[in-house]
Amino acid sequence: MRAAVEALLATGVAVHDGFLDARALRALRTCAERRMRGGEFRPASIGAGGDRLRHAEIRGDSICWLAEPRYAAERDLLRELEQLRLGLNLEAGLGVFELELQYAWYPPGAGYARHVDQPHGRTARRVSLAIYLNARWDPRAGGELRLYDAAGACLDVEPKGGRLVWFLTPGREHEVRPARCGRWSLSGWFCSRP
Ligand code: OGA
Ligand code: MN
Repeated sequence: MRAAVEALLATGVAVHDGFLDARALRALRTCAERRMRGGEFRPASIGAGGDRLRHAEIRGDSICWLAEPRYAAERDLLRELEQLRLGLNLEAGLGVFELELQYAWYPPGAGYARHVDQPHGRTARRVSLAIYLNARWDPRAGGELRLYDAAGACLDVEPKGGRLVWFLTPGREHEVRPARCGRWSLSGWFCSRP
Protein backbone atom coordinates (compact mmCIF):
# COMPACT_ATOMS: atom_id res chain seq x y z
CA MET A 1 0.00 0.00 0.00
CA ARG A 2 2.72 2.42 0.97
CA ALA A 3 4.58 1.69 -2.29
CA ALA A 4 1.44 2.29 -4.36
CA VAL A 5 0.79 5.65 -2.71
CA GLU A 6 4.46 6.65 -2.90
CA ALA A 7 4.49 5.90 -6.62
CA LEU A 8 1.46 8.12 -7.11
CA LEU A 9 2.92 11.00 -5.12
CA ALA A 10 6.35 10.80 -6.77
CA THR A 11 5.14 11.92 -10.21
CA GLY A 12 1.40 12.36 -9.82
CA VAL A 13 0.68 9.29 -11.98
CA ALA A 14 1.15 5.58 -11.29
CA VAL A 15 0.29 2.39 -13.14
CA HIS A 16 -0.26 -0.97 -11.45
CA ASP A 17 -0.52 -4.03 -13.64
CA GLY A 18 -2.42 -7.00 -12.28
CA PHE A 19 -4.43 -4.91 -9.83
CA LEU A 20 -7.22 -7.33 -10.77
CA ASP A 21 -6.29 -10.96 -11.23
CA ALA A 22 -7.79 -12.87 -14.16
CA ARG A 23 -10.71 -14.13 -12.10
CA ALA A 24 -11.68 -10.74 -10.67
CA LEU A 25 -11.34 -9.21 -14.11
CA ARG A 26 -13.68 -11.79 -15.65
CA ALA A 27 -16.17 -11.41 -12.83
CA LEU A 28 -16.29 -7.62 -13.04
CA ARG A 29 -16.61 -7.72 -16.79
CA THR A 30 -19.57 -10.07 -16.36
CA CYS A 31 -21.12 -7.61 -13.90
CA ALA A 32 -20.66 -4.77 -16.37
CA GLU A 33 -22.24 -6.74 -19.19
CA ARG A 34 -25.18 -7.75 -17.02
CA ARG A 35 -25.79 -4.15 -16.10
CA MET A 36 -25.53 -3.22 -19.74
CA ARG A 37 -28.10 -5.85 -20.70
CA GLY A 38 -30.30 -4.60 -17.85
CA GLY A 39 -30.37 -1.14 -19.45
CA GLU A 40 -28.37 0.52 -16.69
CA PHE A 41 -25.87 2.31 -18.95
CA ARG A 42 -26.54 5.84 -20.15
CA PRO A 43 -24.68 7.97 -22.69
CA ALA A 44 -22.22 10.05 -20.68
CA SER A 45 -22.66 13.81 -20.56
CA ILE A 46 -20.16 16.57 -19.90
CA GLY A 47 -20.33 19.51 -17.52
CA ALA A 48 -22.31 19.64 -14.32
CA GLY A 49 -25.77 20.59 -13.07
CA GLY A 50 -27.71 22.76 -15.51
CA ASP A 51 -24.77 22.84 -17.93
CA ARG A 52 -24.92 19.11 -18.46
CA LEU A 53 -24.67 18.34 -22.14
CA ARG A 54 -24.39 15.33 -24.33
CA HIS A 55 -21.67 15.71 -26.95
CA ALA A 56 -20.74 12.35 -28.39
CA GLU A 57 -17.92 13.90 -30.42
CA ILE A 58 -16.30 15.07 -27.16
CA ARG A 59 -17.19 12.08 -25.04
CA GLY A 60 -18.54 8.93 -26.65
CA ASP A 61 -18.80 6.49 -23.76
CA SER A 62 -21.80 5.14 -21.92
CA ILE A 63 -21.60 4.86 -18.16
CA CYS A 64 -23.24 3.11 -15.25
CA TRP A 65 -22.69 4.49 -11.75
CA LEU A 66 -21.72 1.90 -9.21
CA ALA A 67 -23.33 3.50 -6.18
CA GLU A 68 -24.73 0.25 -4.83
CA PRO A 69 -22.66 -2.90 -5.36
CA ARG A 70 -24.91 -5.77 -6.37
CA TYR A 71 -22.51 -8.63 -6.99
CA ALA A 72 -19.76 -10.27 -4.94
CA ALA A 73 -17.09 -9.10 -7.40
CA GLU A 74 -18.24 -5.51 -6.97
CA ARG A 75 -18.16 -5.79 -3.20
CA ASP A 76 -14.64 -7.26 -3.37
CA LEU A 77 -13.51 -4.42 -5.59
CA LEU A 78 -14.95 -1.79 -3.27
CA ARG A 79 -13.08 -3.39 -0.38
CA GLU A 80 -9.81 -3.18 -2.31
CA LEU A 81 -10.45 0.44 -3.24
CA GLU A 82 -11.28 1.24 0.36
CA GLN A 83 -7.76 0.06 1.25
CA LEU A 84 -6.36 2.48 -1.33
CA ARG A 85 -8.47 5.27 0.11
CA LEU A 86 -7.18 4.60 3.62
CA GLY A 87 -3.64 4.44 2.24
CA LEU A 88 -4.04 7.87 0.65
CA ASN A 89 -5.06 9.31 3.98
CA LEU A 90 -2.52 7.48 6.12
CA GLU A 91 0.49 7.79 3.85
CA ALA A 92 -0.25 11.08 2.12
CA GLY A 93 -2.71 12.85 4.40
CA LEU A 94 -4.98 13.52 1.45
CA GLY A 95 -8.24 13.56 3.38
CA VAL A 96 -10.37 11.67 0.89
CA PHE A 97 -13.64 10.34 2.25
CA GLU A 98 -15.72 9.29 -0.68
CA LEU A 99 -15.37 7.23 -3.84
CA GLU A 100 -17.36 7.96 -6.98
CA LEU A 101 -17.19 4.94 -9.26
CA GLN A 102 -18.67 4.10 -12.64
CA TYR A 103 -18.42 1.51 -15.35
CA ALA A 104 -17.66 2.93 -18.75
CA TRP A 105 -18.07 1.44 -22.18
CA TYR A 106 -16.62 3.08 -25.28
CA PRO A 107 -17.97 1.70 -28.55
CA PRO A 108 -15.46 1.34 -31.41
CA GLY A 109 -14.35 4.78 -32.58
CA ALA A 110 -15.42 6.60 -29.41
CA GLY A 111 -13.06 8.57 -27.20
CA TYR A 112 -13.06 11.34 -24.63
CA ALA A 113 -11.39 14.60 -25.69
CA ARG A 114 -8.75 16.31 -23.55
CA HIS A 115 -10.23 17.37 -20.21
CA VAL A 116 -9.71 17.63 -16.47
CA ASP A 117 -11.85 15.63 -14.06
CA GLN A 118 -13.17 18.59 -12.15
CA PRO A 119 -16.43 19.81 -13.64
CA HIS A 120 -16.94 23.54 -13.14
CA GLY A 121 -17.09 24.60 -9.55
CA ARG A 122 -16.17 21.19 -8.18
CA THR A 123 -12.81 20.65 -6.55
CA ALA A 124 -13.73 17.64 -4.43
CA ARG A 125 -12.11 15.11 -6.77
CA ARG A 126 -8.53 14.63 -5.61
CA VAL A 127 -7.42 11.34 -7.16
CA SER A 128 -8.69 9.84 -10.43
CA LEU A 129 -8.43 6.16 -11.25
CA ALA A 130 -9.21 3.81 -14.09
CA ILE A 131 -9.29 0.01 -14.08
CA TYR A 132 -9.41 -1.78 -17.40
CA LEU A 133 -11.78 -4.64 -18.13
CA ASN A 134 -10.80 -5.97 -21.56
CA ALA A 135 -9.00 -9.24 -20.75
CA ARG A 136 -6.90 -9.04 -23.91
CA TRP A 137 -6.06 -5.70 -25.42
CA ASP A 138 -4.29 -5.42 -28.75
CA PRO A 139 -1.89 -2.47 -28.48
CA ARG A 140 -2.65 -1.65 -32.13
CA ALA A 141 -6.30 -1.04 -31.23
CA GLY A 142 -5.62 2.42 -29.72
CA GLY A 143 -7.79 3.39 -26.77
CA GLU A 144 -4.89 4.70 -24.70
CA LEU A 145 -5.34 7.04 -21.78
CA ARG A 146 -3.16 10.00 -22.77
CA LEU A 147 -1.97 12.09 -19.82
CA TYR A 148 -0.40 15.50 -20.40
CA ASP A 149 2.03 17.25 -18.12
CA ALA A 150 2.30 21.00 -17.58
CA ALA A 151 4.86 21.25 -20.39
CA GLY A 152 2.45 19.56 -22.82
CA ALA A 153 4.43 16.31 -23.00
CA CYS A 154 2.30 13.20 -22.84
CA LEU A 155 2.29 9.72 -21.41
CA ASP A 156 0.16 7.03 -23.06
CA VAL A 157 -1.25 4.26 -20.90
CA GLU A 158 -2.61 1.24 -22.73
CA PRO A 159 -5.93 -0.06 -21.32
CA LYS A 160 -4.51 -3.48 -20.49
CA GLY A 161 -6.90 -5.82 -18.67
CA GLY A 162 -6.52 -5.78 -14.88
CA ARG A 163 -4.41 -2.64 -14.92
CA LEU A 164 -5.07 0.21 -12.50
CA VAL A 165 -3.89 3.69 -13.35
CA TRP A 166 -4.37 6.53 -10.93
CA PHE A 167 -3.32 10.16 -10.92
CA LEU A 168 -3.70 13.32 -8.88
CA THR A 169 -6.78 14.98 -10.34
CA PRO A 170 -6.26 18.74 -9.96
CA GLY A 171 -5.11 20.30 -13.20
CA ARG A 172 -4.14 17.01 -14.86
CA GLU A 173 -5.32 17.13 -18.45
CA HIS A 174 -5.90 13.82 -20.18
CA GLU A 175 -7.92 12.19 -22.91
CA VAL A 176 -9.10 8.77 -24.03
CA ARG A 177 -7.92 7.98 -27.54
CA PRO A 178 -10.50 6.35 -29.80
CA ALA A 179 -10.15 2.59 -30.06
CA ARG A 180 -10.92 0.16 -32.83
CA CYS A 181 -12.79 -2.16 -30.51
CA GLY A 182 -15.19 -1.83 -27.59
CA ARG A 183 -13.39 -0.63 -24.46
CA TRP A 184 -14.60 -1.60 -20.97
CA SER A 185 -13.36 0.06 -17.81
CA LEU A 186 -14.16 1.45 -14.42
CA SER A 187 -13.46 5.11 -13.68
CA GLY A 188 -13.38 6.47 -10.18
CA TRP A 189 -12.52 9.46 -8.06
CA PHE A 190 -11.49 9.70 -4.45
CA CYS A 191 -13.06 12.88 -3.17
CA SER A 192 -12.54 15.20 -0.25
CA ARG A 193 -15.55 16.50 1.65
CA PRO A 194 -17.09 19.45 -0.17
C1 OGA B 1 -12.75 9.63 -17.35
C2 OGA B 1 -11.46 9.24 -17.96
C3 OGA B 1 -9.86 7.48 -18.47
C4 OGA B 1 -9.82 6.09 -19.01
O1 OGA B 1 -13.64 8.76 -17.24
O2 OGA B 1 -12.90 10.80 -16.97
O3 OGA B 1 -10.68 10.10 -18.23
O4 OGA B 1 -8.71 5.64 -19.34
N1 OGA B 1 -11.17 7.92 -18.14
O5 OGA B 1 -10.86 5.45 -19.13
MN1 MN C 1 -11.10 11.91 -17.10
